[in-house]
Amino acid sequence: MGRKYAIIGVGHVGATIAFSLVTQGLADELILIDKNQKKARAEQLDLQDATARLSSHPKIKIQDYSELVNTDILFVTAGNIHALDNASGNRWAEFEYTREIVKDIAPKIKNSGFNGVLIDTMNPCDAITQYLQKEIGLPNSRVLGTGTFLDTARMQRVVSEKFEVDPKNVSGFVYGEHGESQFVAWSTVTVNGLAINTLTSKLNLDLEELEASARSGGWDIHSGKGYTSFAIATCAIKLSLAILDDAKLMCPCSFYNAKYESYVGQPGIIGKNGVESLVTIPLLPEEEQKLAISAATIKEKFATL
Ligand code: LAC
Repeated sequence: MGRKYAIIGVGHVGATIAFSLVTQGLADELILIDKNQKKARAEQLDLQDATARLSSHPKIKIQDYSELVNTDILFVTAGNIHALDNASGNRWAEFEYTREIVKDIAPKIKNSGFNGVLIDTMNPCDAITQYLQKEIGLPNSRVLGTGTFLDTARMQRVVSEKFEVDPKNVSGFVYGEHGESQFVAWSTVTVNGLAINTLTSKLNLDLEELEASARSGGWDIHSGKGYTSFAIATCAIKLSLAILDDAKLMCPCSFYNAKYESYVGQPGIIGKNGVESLVTIPLLPEEEQKLAISAATIKEKFATL
């Protein structure tokens, strides 16, 4: 049995994930589900046409929840980006829409017998991922959100531009909500192996400015193309590969933290069982406080469900 993926919601993010899985030869079988039957069929045909020019030839099926029973990875990407068009920089504007999506799809996923790992990209990511876990009933470890994995990539980008290095030379994490209360734990950030906090004065770095650039990254892209797709899709696929390869990859994403009784962006170890453990990195007191505040924001909103 090869690697079987499913995607619920083949909009910009879902279609980008599907295209990446097929063109990179990552999926042996791919299930596309969307409330718009014609859209699902169109994406299936477009991808099947592409396989004539690819080395891989995945089976691509559509609109069938029963196929989830032996699916390894389920991406939930059924958000509505237009809910954010006038959101004045807050992903909570999508909550009204995406929580109804969860009410619709969670019973179908549960009844399908899906027993793999679910990766959510819908916003507000942390609360919606927690809602999916609650309604489907899978173990917390096997329902995760991309969360601040994406925000951390944006932090890596803005810092790497300052140092003119590959973003992968920048380590460290954005913690908290995939939203406005996220923060960069600068005490965890290194560039070329050197703690950034030891470099700021020498290089006249404005960490607050860098943090603001990372935090606004999604909105900067949204204002230009009306949505985001490439980085979020790449983050979601990266998480799926860590699971399927049992990579024990340490990376930030959104998962449950019992201390805060909430899903929140934090570093974890990702392997075959999903989020296998939390990595508790000692943070500065002010960073711990920001994390507690961010988690409380998510918990408070989740409680309105
Ligand atoms: C972003 C969306 C996925 O930040 O929330 O690009």
